Amino acid sequence: MKKIETFVLLGLLAGGPLSAQDAAEGETVFQRRCAACHTLDGSNRVGPSLQGLVGREAGTAEGFRYSGAMAESGLIWEPETLVQYLENPRDMVPGTRMVLRLPDEEDRRNVVEFLSTQ
Ligand code: HEC
Repeated sequence: MKKIETFVLLGLLAGGPLSAQDAAEGETVFQRRCAACHTLDGSNRVGPSLQGLVGREAGTAEGFRYSGAMAESGLIWEPETLVQYLENPRDMVPGTRMVLRLPDEEDRRNVVEFLSTQ
């Protein structure tokens, strides 16, 4: 077996999916699909900053004016909740102003993996 294959195999045995790689792919998804409206540095644009998103309560980014629907959703942004939300935000939060949908589950998982590093 070649050396590189050994590493990939060991990686898979050790941790299942290679999450550093998923996060890198998730960063690309973020840049293409989210960055027009969201930053990761605490400043708000069309959408709230997503810095420190994973684990925080929905509708609580400092200084952002949310829709009533998002502010009152009572959601906590756990990874699985985010993966589900991004498929179609309006299914989970009827009345939200965010309309972008991410139909590809792998894209959703990767972008959430990336966001959890921010
Ligand atoms: C066209 C603009 C736009 C794009 C593109 C967009 N969003 Fe949003 N997003 C918003 C707006 C506006 C809100 C606030 C929604 C509300 O108040 O109802 C929001 C809210 C959110 C929230 C809730 C944040 C909180 O503080 O509770 C998450 C999570 C989120 N977006 C993730 C994403 C991700 C991940 C992407 C890329 C895959 C993305 N958004 C792409 C506009 C956008």
